[in-house]
Amino acid sequence: MIFTVAIDGPAAAGKGTISRRLADQFGFAHLDTGLLYRAVGAKVADGAAPEIAAQNLTAADLARTDLRSHAAGQAASKVAVIPEVRNALVTFQREFGRRNGGAVLDGRDIGTVICPDADLKLFVTARPEVRAHRRYLELGGDEALILNEIIERDSRDMSREDAPLRAAEDAVVIDTSDLDIEAAVRLAAEHVTARLKG
Ligand code: CDP
Repeated sequence: MIFTVAIDGPAAAGKGTISRRLADQFGFAHLDTGLLYRAVGAKVADGAAPEIAAQNLTAADLARTDLRSHAAGQAASKVAVIPEVRNALVTFQREFGRRNGGAVLDGRDIGTVICPDADLKLFVTARPEVRAHRRYLELGGDEALILNEIIERDSRDMSREDAPLRAAEDAVVIDTSDLDIEAAVRLAAEHVTARLKG
């Protein structure tokens, strides 16, 4: 069975948790596409050329322990504006989306560019202050600075020419600002169940 769930949205909106939980619940495979960009950003910070870094990503690159940091997020969004980097990652993501048994992919351009025919598209968002607070609880640091970084990263992601962050026209928008994780996952799971039946 091929069944693709595309989940997009701005930084720290809850996409990752929702995606992992849906994948667990329905037995789908999960791909955190942000990790690909984070790994490319980290290799570039180490001195690699962006396009070459993206063409030669290895499992070890993705297993680096420094990819979740604020700095890695910023580095990711800087390499993510480069069309050659994005192009190098397209085939892997598309094939993942069509793997047998169902797949959940989360990122910025999954519903718009990578899997435009996805069976379900969710756009997960939340107010910037709420997202900054969640990231602060997750990683620590200075909350005001985190808010500024999130706003800067969202703006870079939304204004780039190639595959900007936006909701696909047929995406279901889930605003998690006033939802706890259980409620957000329940809502997302209801949409999956409805599409599986449909
Ligand atoms: O976890 P968080 O939402 O903070 O970020 P992420 O999903 O790990 O993505 C990090 C950065 O990678 C984003 O800010 C985007 O610039 C880039 N990205 C992208 O351009 N396209 C994707 N499909 C996924 C991530």
